[in-house]
Amino acid sequence: MTLLIGIPLETTTAERRVASVPEVVEKLIKLGFAVAVQSGAGVGANFGDDDYRAAGAEVVATAAELWARSDIVFKVRPPGSEEVALMREGGTLIGFVWPAQNPELMQQLAGKHATVLAIDSLPRTLSRAQKMDALTSMASISGYRAVIEAAHAFGRFLNGQVTAAGKIPPAKVFIAGAGVAGLAAIGTAASLGAIVRANDTRAEVADQVKSLGGEFVKVDYEEEGSGGGGYAKVMSEGFQQAQRAMYAQQAKDADIIITTALIPGKPAPKLITAEMVQSMKPGSVIVDMAAEQGGNCELTVPGEAVVRHGVTIVGYTDLASRLARQSSTLYGNNLLRVVEELCKTKDGTINVDFDDDAIRGLTVIKEGNITWPPPPIKQPAAAPKQQTPPPAATVAKPKGHGHGAGEPMSAKALATVFGLGALVFLLVGQFAPAAFLSHFTVFVLACFVGYMVVWNVTPSLHTPLMSVTNAISSIIAIGALVQVAPPLDGAAVGDRPSGLILGLAVGALALTAVNMFGGFAVTRRMLAMFRK
Ligand code: NAI
Repeated sequence: MTLLIGIPLETTTAERRVASVPEVVEKLIKLGFAVAVQSGAGVGANFGDDDYRAAGAEVVATAAELWARSDIVFKVRPPGSEEVALMREGGTLIGFVWPAQNPELMQQLAGKHATVLAIDSLPRTLSRAQKMDALTSMASISGYRAVIEAAHAFGRFLNGQVTAAGKIPPAKVFIAGAGVAGLAAIGTAASLGAIVRANDTRAEVADQVKSLGGEFVKVDYEEEGSGGGGYAKVMSEGFQQAQRAMYAQQAKDADIIITTALIPGKPAPKLITAEMVQSMKPGSVIVDMAAEQGGNCELTVPGEAVVRHGVTIVGYTDLASRLARQSSTLYGNNLLRVVEELCKTKDGTINVDFDDDAIRGLTVIKEGNITWPPPPIKQPAAAPKQQTPPPAATVAKPKGHGHGAGEPMSAKALATVFGLGALVFLLVGQFAPAAFLSHFTVFVLACFVGYMVVWNVTPSLHTPLMSVTNAISSIIAIGALVQVAPPLDGAAVGDRPSGLILGLAVGALALTAVNMFGGFAVTRRMLAMFRK
């Protein structure tokens, strides 16, 4: 039986996002579903009823009709109690639910014998889950928008300029917390020409900050800040004191501060005190992205922009909704990926399979039974939480503790590898001709050097690395040509290379020169993209 997916108009005040967009509706229909959209649902995100009709959806007039008829409802914000009342018995809901914060809503939904998939409960440590990760896609849009809001409230250019009327220095932007939203903000502020500095308790993000054009500012206190899975931990009092001293310095110097620091399930750490706000230059701006969790700044008013001590403090909690078309499209795609996992048969039906770790984590209520919190995943995947590359020129690297580059071998494994290597050499030395042995030695050494060169390079630098090795390989080609040509000095006329060989050698030299200088030029250009 073909199921009907319903997309209602969001009822939360000022929410402009919609849970699906016409291009995604087409894909849902291809999966075998029917789709109904409440009239006006997409207006806030600039999608009209006719756009949905053209994509194959039915447009229904009222929320009551939509909820009553839909087998599966897609939502952005958690439903209100009036919406739950409209829901049909045994229906399915997919959207943000926040089960820990909304126990009453959970009871109401269970009372409807509903099946509820909370997109916020996705196990983000599964690499397979990244395509469904709406928290990441929304946070990266919000990080971008935070910079735009800051630039709007700030009375100056972000980039430095030299004009006939005078010299304008670049704005200094300090970003607290380099998670998904923070990294997107760093990339955006850097691309607008600001000087960007950032801090995070997890030292492992320093490289990501740098690769996006920012400078990582360390707290002068040694303590590991990683709490596992790509999240931070609550730091010691000593660390917090040292961090406050550093933040006080940055506040005096910065024009814009964007705070994104958060540890899931904990109130937002208070990083910017009232005195720090007071010490900032008049006209400076703070955007406190953690406003909804209590704020990283003591003076933040959630949902509002206020001016305190001459500093504008923006505490908007709807940053993603302020780029509604973009965020609805990404969110719609995230939900489509969830539905693809639920409907592997592509026949318009769903199977909530608890053997699938991603689906198990997402499902907070199954047929009226509360199944949240899920049991821990038995075999944690190697790939980490995160990280939709934030928009624009941002290339974010996954957080966490993935295997791969830089992971040392155990002493036993190393001894085994060396032992086997020595055995192979012994056998080759015994039986192979001497010339082969010398070539083989060079080959093994070349492999070893190549491995050591590539292994510790950040993945985002692999492309420039390839072009530089390409250039270097051309040098090897020139060496090979010299080897091939017989000695010219004092050689008998008959020993000299023929015109043909010389011509070929010159041609080859010209070609390798193009390859070589081209390789270096391309490497330079690519590395310039990573520099500010
Ligand atoms: P995330 O978990 O990826 O990043 C938070 C970062 O803060 C982590 O890198 C963590 O290491 C760091 N951190 C934790 N404690 C810290 C401390 N004491 N000092 C310095 N760094 C610290 O979270 P994400 O997705 O980037 O979200 C960031 C914040 O933005 C959250 O509060 C989230 O709720 C909020 N948000 C707000 C939106 C809005 O409209 N205002 C929209 C989307 C997200």
